[in-house]
Amino acid sequence: MPQPHNTLPDQTEPPTGDLPLVARDRFPLLRDKPGLVYLDSASSAQKPDCVIDRLTRFYTHEYANIHRGLYPLSEDASEAYDQARGRVARFLGAAKDEIIFTHNATEAINLVAHAYGDNNLRPGDLILTSLLEHHANIVPWQLLKDRHRLRLAAIAIDDAGDLDLARYEMLLAREPKLVCVTAAANTIGTVTPLREIIAMAHRAGALVMVDAAQAAPHFRFDVRDLDCDFLAITGHKLYGPDGIGALYVKETVLADLPPFMGGGGMIRSVGIEHTDYAEGPRRFEAGTPAIGAALAFATALDFIGEIGFAGIAAHDAALAAYASQRLPEIAGLRIIGAPRKRIGILSFVMDGLHPHDIGTLLGESGVCLRAGHHCAQPLMEHLGITGTARISFGVHNTIHDVDRLVDSLARVRQMLR
Ligand code: ALA
Repeated sequence: MPQPHNTLPDQTEPPTGDLPLVARDRFPLLRDKPGLVYLDSASSAQKPDCVIDRLTRFYTHEYANIHRGLYPLSEDASEAYDQARGRVARFLGAAKDEIIFTHNATEAINLVAHAYGDNNLRPGDLILTSLLEHHANIVPWQLLKDRHRLRLAAIAIDDAGDLDLARYEMLLAREPKLVCVTAAANTIGTVTPLREIIAMAHRAGALVMVDAAQAAPHFRFDVRDLDCDFLAITGHKLYGPDGIGALYVKETVLADLPPFMGGGGMIRSVGIEHTDYAEGPRRFEAGTPAIGAALAFATALDFIGEIGFAGIAAHDAALAAYASQRLPEIAGLRIIGAPRKRIGILSFVMDGLHPHDIGTLLGESGVCLRAGHHCAQPLMEHLGITGTARISFGVHNTIHDVDRLVDSLARVRQMLR
Protein backbone atom coordinates (compact mmCIF):
# COMPACT_ATOMS: atom_id res chain seq x y z
CA MET A 1 0.00 0.00 0.00
CA PRO A 2 1.31 3.48 -0.76
CA GLN A 3 2.25 5.27 2.46
CA PRO A 4 0.72 8.62 3.39
CA HIS A 5 3.01 11.45 2.58
CA ASN A 6 3.46 13.92 5.42
CA THR A 7 2.97 16.58 2.79
CA LEU A 8 3.17 19.75 4.74
CA PRO A 9 2.55 22.96 2.82
CA ASP A 10 -0.62 24.88 3.44
CA GLN A 11 -2.16 24.93 -0.05
CA THR A 12 -3.77 28.33 0.56
CA GLU A 13 -0.39 30.06 0.85
CA PRO A 14 2.08 30.42 -2.04
CA PRO A 15 4.94 27.97 -1.40
CA THR A 16 8.01 29.49 0.14
CA GLY A 17 10.14 26.38 0.12
CA ASP A 18 10.42 26.70 3.87
CA LEU A 19 9.01 23.20 4.29
CA PRO A 20 9.71 20.13 2.20
CA LEU A 21 7.06 18.89 -0.19
CA VAL A 22 7.62 15.39 1.19
CA ALA A 23 9.08 14.94 4.65
CA ARG A 24 12.78 14.20 4.58
CA ASP A 25 12.29 11.15 6.80
CA ARG A 26 10.34 9.44 4.01
CA PHE A 27 13.82 8.97 2.45
CA PRO A 28 15.74 6.43 4.55
CA LEU A 29 19.16 7.65 3.41
CA LEU A 30 18.36 11.26 4.29
CA ARG A 31 16.81 10.15 7.58
CA ASP A 32 20.02 8.30 8.45
CA LYS A 33 22.24 11.25 7.52
CA PRO A 34 20.58 14.28 9.11
CA GLY A 35 23.45 16.63 8.24
CA LEU A 36 23.50 15.81 4.54
CA VAL A 37 22.29 18.42 2.06
CA TYR A 38 21.36 16.56 -1.13
CA LEU A 39 21.18 18.92 -4.09
CA ASP A 40 21.86 16.38 -6.83
CA SER A 41 18.47 14.92 -7.74
CA ALA A 42 19.08 15.70 -11.43
CA SER A 43 21.94 13.23 -11.32
CA SER A 44 19.88 10.66 -9.45
CA ALA A 45 17.03 11.07 -6.97
CA GLN A 46 17.13 9.63 -3.47
CA LYS A 47 14.68 6.76 -2.93
CA PRO A 48 11.58 7.03 -0.76
CA ASP A 49 10.64 4.26 1.65
CA CYS A 50 7.79 2.96 -0.55
CA VAL A 51 10.17 2.29 -3.47
CA ILE A 52 12.69 0.48 -1.26
CA ASP A 53 9.84 -1.51 0.37
CA ARG A 54 8.50 -2.54 -3.04
CA LEU A 55 11.90 -3.93 -4.06
CA THR A 56 12.27 -5.76 -0.77
CA ARG A 57 8.75 -7.22 -0.97
CA PHE A 58 9.31 -8.47 -4.51
CA TYR A 59 12.62 -10.17 -3.76
CA THR A 60 11.45 -11.48 -0.39
CA HIS A 61 7.97 -12.76 -1.22
CA GLU A 62 7.18 -12.55 -4.92
CA TYR A 63 10.31 -13.26 -6.95
CA ALA A 64 10.19 -15.36 -10.11
CA ASN A 65 11.04 -14.77 -13.76
CA ILE A 66 8.28 -13.47 -16.01
CA HIS A 67 6.64 -14.95 -19.13
CA ARG A 68 8.47 -18.24 -18.62
CA GLY A 69 7.01 -20.35 -15.80
CA LEU A 70 3.43 -21.57 -15.72
CA TYR A 71 3.42 -21.76 -11.93
CA PRO A 72 1.54 -19.10 -9.91
CA LEU A 73 4.63 -17.25 -8.66
CA SER A 74 5.80 -16.65 -12.22
CA GLU A 75 2.31 -15.83 -13.45
CA ASP A 76 1.89 -13.27 -10.67
CA ALA A 77 5.28 -11.70 -11.43
CA SER A 78 4.31 -11.51 -15.13
CA GLU A 79 1.04 -9.84 -14.19
CA ALA A 80 2.79 -7.32 -11.92
CA TYR A 81 5.31 -6.50 -14.67
CA ASP A 82 2.46 -5.95 -17.10
CA GLN A 83 0.72 -3.66 -14.61
CA ALA A 84 3.96 -1.71 -14.19
CA ARG A 85 4.00 -1.15 -17.96
CA GLY A 86 0.43 0.12 -17.65
CA ARG A 87 1.47 2.49 -14.86
CA VAL A 88 4.25 3.97 -17.00
CA ALA A 89 1.79 4.33 -19.89
CA ARG A 90 -0.65 6.24 -17.65
CA PHE A 91 2.17 8.46 -16.42
CA LEU A 92 2.87 9.52 -20.01
CA GLY A 93 -0.68 9.48 -21.37
CA ALA A 94 0.25 6.58 -23.68
CA ALA A 95 -1.28 3.17 -24.43
CA LYS A 96 0.34 0.21 -22.67
CA ASP A 97 1.51 -1.26 -25.97
CA GLU A 98 3.43 1.91 -26.73
CA ILE A 99 5.77 1.50 -23.73
CA ILE A 100 9.03 -0.44 -24.06
CA PHE A 101 10.96 -1.07 -20.87
CA THR A 102 14.67 -0.29 -21.19
CA HIS A 103 17.44 -0.02 -18.63
CA ASN A 104 17.61 3.79 -18.76
CA ALA A 105 16.92 6.76 -21.04
CA THR A 106 20.27 6.31 -22.79
CA GLU A 107 19.34 2.78 -23.84
CA ALA A 108 15.93 4.06 -24.97
CA ILE A 109 17.57 6.61 -27.27
CA ASN A 110 20.04 4.04 -28.60
CA LEU A 111 17.10 1.72 -29.28
CA VAL A 112 15.54 4.39 -31.50
CA ALA A 113 18.85 4.99 -33.27
CA HIS A 114 19.11 1.29 -34.09
CA ALA A 115 15.54 0.12 -34.59
CA TYR A 116 14.32 3.27 -36.36
CA GLY A 117 17.50 4.93 -37.61
CA ASP A 118 19.27 1.91 -39.07
CA ASN A 119 16.17 0.90 -40.99
CA ASN A 120 14.79 4.20 -42.18
CA LEU A 121 17.60 6.68 -42.74
CA ARG A 122 19.68 6.81 -45.92
CA PRO A 123 23.08 8.37 -46.75
CA GLY A 124 22.81 12.16 -46.79
CA ASP A 125 19.74 12.30 -44.52
CA LEU A 126 19.86 15.00 -41.86
CA ILE A 127 19.27 14.56 -38.11
CA LEU A 128 18.84 17.58 -35.85
CA THR A 129 19.85 17.65 -32.22
CA SER A 130 20.44 20.75 -30.07
CA LEU A 131 23.14 22.50 -28.09
CA LEU A 132 21.18 21.80 -24.89
CA GLU A 133 21.50 18.02 -25.15
CA HIS A 134 23.08 15.53 -22.80
CA HIS A 135 25.63 13.32 -24.57
CA ALA A 136 22.97 10.58 -24.51
CA ASN A 137 21.03 12.54 -27.13
CA ILE A 138 24.09 13.32 -29.25
CA VAL A 139 26.45 10.35 -29.33
CA PRO A 140 23.89 7.71 -30.50
CA TRP A 141 23.10 10.00 -33.46
CA GLN A 142 26.79 10.44 -34.25
CA LEU A 143 27.24 6.68 -34.27
CA LEU A 144 24.19 6.36 -36.55
CA LYS A 145 25.55 9.14 -38.78
CA ASP A 146 28.84 7.28 -39.13
CA ARG A 147 27.12 3.95 -39.85
CA HIS A 148 25.04 5.41 -42.70
CA ARG A 149 26.89 8.53 -43.82
CA LEU A 150 24.16 10.83 -42.53
CA ARG A 151 24.42 14.50 -41.56
CA LEU A 152 23.97 15.90 -38.07
CA ALA A 153 23.34 19.52 -37.05
CA ALA A 154 22.49 21.23 -33.76
CA ILE A 155 19.78 23.78 -33.02
CA ALA A 156 21.49 26.84 -31.57
CA ILE A 157 20.61 28.64 -28.34
CA ASP A 158 20.32 32.34 -27.54
CA ASP A 159 22.20 34.21 -24.80
CA ALA A 160 19.59 33.31 -22.17
CA GLY A 161 19.99 29.59 -22.87
CA ASP A 162 16.72 29.10 -24.74
CA LEU A 163 16.55 27.29 -28.06
CA ASP A 164 16.70 29.70 -30.99
CA LEU A 165 13.51 28.87 -32.85
CA ALA A 166 14.31 31.16 -35.81
CA ARG A 167 17.52 29.20 -36.39
CA TYR A 168 15.57 25.97 -35.91
CA GLU A 169 13.11 27.05 -38.62
CA MET A 170 16.08 27.60 -40.95
CA LEU A 171 17.43 24.13 -40.21
CA LEU A 172 14.01 22.62 -40.89
CA ALA A 173 14.18 24.07 -44.41
CA ARG A 174 16.95 21.50 -44.96
CA GLU A 175 14.31 18.78 -44.48
CA PRO A 176 15.70 16.71 -41.60
CA LYS A 177 14.28 13.24 -41.09
CA LEU A 178 14.53 13.24 -37.32
CA VAL A 179 14.64 15.94 -34.61
CA CYS A 180 16.13 14.82 -31.26
CA VAL A 181 15.56 17.30 -28.50
CA THR A 182 15.50 17.46 -24.74
CA ALA A 183 12.40 18.52 -22.79
CA ALA A 184 14.60 20.20 -20.17
CA ALA A 185 18.36 20.76 -20.15
CA ASN A 186 20.22 18.82 -17.46
CA THR A 187 22.80 21.61 -17.18
CA ILE A 188 21.02 24.96 -16.96
CA GLY A 189 17.44 23.76 -16.52
CA THR A 190 15.96 25.27 -19.71
CA VAL A 191 12.48 23.95 -20.48
CA THR A 192 12.13 23.73 -24.25
CA PRO A 193 8.88 24.67 -26.07
CA LEU A 194 8.24 21.07 -27.03
CA ARG A 195 4.79 21.40 -28.51
CA GLU A 196 5.99 24.07 -30.91
CA ILE A 197 9.21 22.19 -31.74
CA ILE A 198 7.27 19.02 -32.51
CA ALA A 199 4.60 20.74 -34.63
CA MET A 200 7.31 22.54 -36.62
CA ALA A 201 9.23 19.28 -37.16
CA HIS A 202 6.12 17.46 -38.32
CA ARG A 203 5.26 20.24 -40.77
CA ALA A 204 8.76 19.75 -42.21
CA GLY A 205 8.24 15.97 -42.44
CA ALA A 206 10.53 14.91 -39.56
CA LEU A 207 9.79 12.57 -36.67
CA VAL A 208 10.66 13.74 -33.14
CA MET A 209 12.55 11.98 -30.35
CA VAL A 210 12.15 13.67 -26.96
CA ASP A 211 14.66 13.13 -24.16
CA ALA A 212 12.44 13.60 -21.11
CA ALA A 213 14.91 12.11 -18.60
CA GLN A 214 15.35 15.40 -16.70
CA ALA A 215 11.93 16.92 -17.27
CA ALA A 216 9.74 13.97 -16.27
CA PRO A 217 10.25 14.41 -12.48
CA HIS A 218 9.18 18.06 -12.79
CA PHE A 219 6.13 18.35 -15.03
CA ARG A 220 3.41 16.24 -16.57
CA PHE A 221 3.80 14.69 -19.98
CA ASP A 222 0.97 13.76 -22.28
CA VAL A 223 2.45 12.18 -25.37
CA ARG A 224 -0.86 12.38 -27.28
CA ASP A 225 -1.13 16.09 -26.64
CA LEU A 226 2.54 16.63 -27.51
CA ASP A 227 2.26 14.35 -30.54
CA CYS A 228 5.92 13.27 -30.25
CA ASP A 229 6.99 10.06 -31.96
CA PHE A 230 9.50 8.79 -29.38
CA LEU A 231 10.05 9.82 -25.75
CA ALA A 232 12.58 8.49 -23.25
CA ILE A 233 12.44 8.55 -19.43
CA THR A 234 14.50 6.91 -16.72
CA GLY A 235 13.40 5.48 -13.38
CA HIS A 236 16.25 6.61 -11.15
CA LYS A 237 15.57 10.33 -11.63
CA LEU A 238 11.88 9.71 -10.86
CA TYR A 239 12.58 8.44 -7.33
CA GLY A 240 12.61 4.88 -8.69
CA PRO A 241 15.43 2.34 -8.92
CA ASP A 242 18.32 2.55 -11.33
CA GLY A 243 18.52 0.02 -14.17
CA ILE A 244 15.00 0.72 -15.42
CA GLY A 245 13.76 3.22 -17.99
CA ALA A 246 11.10 3.42 -20.64
CA LEU A 247 10.70 4.39 -24.25
CA TYR A 248 7.38 5.59 -25.61
CA VAL A 249 6.94 4.89 -29.33
CA LYS A 250 3.82 6.13 -31.11
CA GLU A 251 1.69 3.12 -32.05
CA THR A 252 1.83 3.75 -35.83
CA VAL A 253 5.63 4.03 -35.71
CA LEU A 254 6.08 1.02 -33.40
CA ALA A 255 3.99 -1.23 -35.66
CA ASP A 256 6.67 -1.08 -38.39
CA LEU A 257 9.73 -1.08 -36.16
CA PRO A 258 11.99 -4.14 -36.44
CA PRO A 259 13.67 -5.46 -33.28
CA PHE A 260 16.95 -4.03 -32.05
CA MET A 261 18.27 -6.96 -29.99
CA GLY A 262 17.53 -10.64 -30.43
CA GLY A 263 17.04 -13.26 -27.75
CA GLY A 264 14.47 -14.87 -25.51
CA GLY A 265 11.21 -13.13 -24.69
CA MET A 266 10.96 -11.11 -27.93
CA ILE A 267 9.84 -13.96 -30.20
CA ARG A 268 6.72 -15.82 -31.27
CA SER A 269 8.55 -18.77 -32.77
CA VAL A 270 12.16 -19.52 -33.65
CA GLY A 271 13.67 -21.83 -36.25
CA ILE A 272 17.35 -22.12 -37.05
CA GLU A 273 17.08 -19.80 -40.03
CA HIS A 274 14.03 -17.73 -39.26
CA THR A 275 12.24 -16.10 -36.32
CA ASP A 276 8.76 -14.64 -36.02
CA TYR A 277 8.86 -11.80 -33.55
CA ALA A 278 6.47 -10.94 -30.74
CA GLU A 279 3.98 -8.15 -31.34
CA GLY A 280 4.17 -4.80 -29.55
CA PRO A 281 6.75 -3.69 -27.00
CA ARG A 282 7.93 -7.20 -26.10
CA ARG A 283 9.60 -7.36 -29.52
CA PHE A 284 12.16 -4.93 -28.08
CA GLU A 285 12.72 -6.56 -24.69
CA ALA A 286 15.11 -9.45 -25.29
CA GLY A 287 16.30 -11.39 -22.26
CA THR A 288 15.18 -11.32 -18.64
CA PRO A 289 14.32 -7.69 -17.85
CA ALA A 290 14.80 -5.71 -14.64
CA ILE A 291 11.58 -7.08 -13.14
CA GLY A 292 11.89 -5.82 -9.57
CA ALA A 293 13.07 -2.44 -10.82
CA ALA A 294 10.04 -2.18 -13.13
CA LEU A 295 7.67 -2.91 -10.23
CA ALA A 296 9.37 -0.36 -7.98
CA PHE A 297 9.39 2.13 -10.86
CA ALA A 298 5.59 1.88 -10.91
CA THR A 299 5.57 2.51 -7.15
CA ALA A 300 7.75 5.59 -7.67
CA LEU A 301 5.25 6.90 -10.22
CA ASP A 302 2.46 6.37 -7.66
CA PHE A 303 4.58 8.34 -5.18
CA ILE A 304 4.89 11.23 -7.66
CA GLY A 305 1.20 10.93 -8.52
CA GLU A 306 0.24 11.35 -4.88
CA ILE A 307 2.35 14.51 -4.59
CA GLY A 308 1.07 15.97 -7.87
CA PHE A 309 2.91 18.05 -10.44
CA ALA A 310 1.21 21.30 -9.42
CA GLY A 311 2.91 21.08 -6.02
CA ILE A 312 6.21 19.95 -7.52
CA ALA A 313 6.29 22.88 -9.99
CA ALA A 314 5.46 25.42 -7.28
CA HIS A 315 8.08 23.95 -4.93
CA ASP A 316 10.73 23.94 -7.71
CA ALA A 317 9.92 27.55 -8.54
CA ALA A 318 10.12 28.67 -4.91
CA LEU A 319 13.50 26.97 -4.38
CA ALA A 320 14.94 28.18 -7.70
CA ALA A 321 13.82 31.76 -6.96
CA TYR A 322 15.37 31.62 -3.49
CA ALA A 323 18.64 30.16 -4.83
CA SER A 324 18.77 32.77 -7.64
CA GLN A 325 18.44 35.47 -5.02
CA ARG A 326 20.96 34.08 -2.50
CA LEU A 327 23.75 32.65 -4.68
CA PRO A 328 24.88 36.05 -6.06
CA GLU A 329 25.69 37.07 -2.46
CA ILE A 330 28.92 35.10 -2.98
CA ALA A 331 31.63 37.27 -4.50
CA GLY A 332 32.59 36.21 -8.03
CA LEU A 333 29.71 33.76 -8.44
CA ARG A 334 27.80 33.80 -11.72
CA ILE A 335 24.62 31.83 -12.50
CA ILE A 336 24.76 30.38 -16.00
CA GLY A 337 21.72 30.95 -18.22
CA ALA A 338 18.48 32.77 -17.62
CA PRO A 339 15.98 30.71 -19.61
CA ARG A 340 12.33 31.82 -19.89
CA LYS A 341 11.23 28.70 -18.05
CA ARG A 342 13.33 26.32 -15.98
CA ILE A 343 12.99 23.19 -13.89
CA GLY A 344 14.60 23.03 -10.44
CA ILE A 345 18.16 23.14 -11.76
CA LEU A 346 20.72 25.96 -11.47
CA SER A 347 24.29 26.00 -12.72
CA PHE A 348 26.93 28.44 -11.58
CA VAL A 349 30.64 29.20 -11.84
CA MET A 350 32.95 31.02 -9.42
CA ASP A 351 35.93 33.21 -10.33
CA GLY A 352 39.22 31.50 -9.64
CA LEU A 353 37.68 28.14 -8.70
CA HIS A 354 37.36 25.07 -10.90
CA PRO A 355 33.89 23.50 -10.64
CA HIS A 356 35.52 20.25 -9.47
CA ASP A 357 37.08 22.12 -6.54
CA ILE A 358 33.68 23.58 -5.64
CA GLY A 359 32.19 20.07 -5.72
CA THR A 360 34.95 18.55 -3.61
CA LEU A 361 35.05 21.31 -1.00
CA LEU A 362 31.27 21.40 -0.61
CA GLY A 363 31.23 17.62 -0.42
CA GLU A 364 33.52 17.84 2.60
CA SER A 365 30.92 19.98 4.35
CA GLY A 366 28.10 17.57 3.53
CA VAL A 367 26.64 19.42 0.54
CA CYS A 368 26.15 17.17 -2.50
CA LEU A 369 26.04 18.73 -5.95
CA ARG A 370 27.33 17.77 -9.38
CA ALA A 371 30.31 19.58 -10.86
CA GLY A 372 31.91 19.36 -14.28
CA HIS A 373 30.61 19.28 -17.84
CA HIS A 374 27.47 17.31 -16.91
CA CYS A 375 27.79 15.14 -20.05
CA ALA A 376 27.06 18.25 -22.11
CA GLN A 377 30.43 19.22 -23.56
CA PRO A 378 29.05 20.89 -26.72
CA LEU A 379 27.06 23.29 -24.52
CA MET A 380 30.05 23.99 -22.28
CA GLU A 381 32.19 24.69 -25.34
CA HIS A 382 29.53 27.05 -26.69
CA LEU A 383 29.45 28.87 -23.34
CA GLY A 384 33.25 29.08 -23.28
CA ILE A 385 33.57 27.27 -19.94
CA THR A 386 34.91 23.86 -18.96
CA GLY A 387 32.08 23.13 -16.58
CA THR A 388 29.79 24.40 -13.86
CA ALA A 389 28.68 23.52 -10.36
CA ARG A 390 25.05 22.43 -10.55
CA ILE A 391 22.35 22.23 -7.91
CA SER A 392 19.10 20.42 -8.55
CA PHE A 393 16.08 20.10 -6.32
CA GLY A 394 13.99 17.17 -5.17
CA VAL A 395 10.74 17.04 -3.21
CA HIS A 396 12.65 16.75 0.11
CA ASN A 397 14.64 19.99 -0.33
CA THR A 398 13.90 23.28 1.40
CA ILE A 399 15.33 26.80 1.32
CA HIS A 400 17.37 25.77 4.38
CA ASP A 401 19.34 23.44 2.10
CA VAL A 402 20.06 26.47 -0.08
CA ASP A 403 21.15 28.39 3.05
CA ARG A 404 23.57 25.58 3.92
CA LEU A 405 24.91 25.68 0.36
CA VAL A 406 25.42 29.46 0.47
CA ASP A 407 27.11 29.28 3.90
CA SER A 408 29.46 26.58 2.62
CA LEU A 409 30.25 28.57 -0.52
CA ALA A 410 30.99 31.64 1.60
CA ARG A 411 33.44 29.57 3.68
CA VAL A 412 35.11 28.25 0.53
CA ARG A 413 35.43 31.81 -0.79
CA GLN A 414 36.90 32.95 2.55
CA MET A 415 39.38 30.06 2.64
CA LEU A 416 40.71 30.86 -0.82
CA ARG A 417 41.16 34.56 -0.30
N1 ALA B 1 22.23 12.81 -16.60
C1 ALA B 1 22.54 12.93 -15.22
C2 ALA B 1 22.95 14.33 -14.85
O1 ALA B 1 22.69 15.26 -15.55
C3 ALA B 1 23.49 11.91 -14.75
O2 ALA B 1 23.58 14.51 -13.84
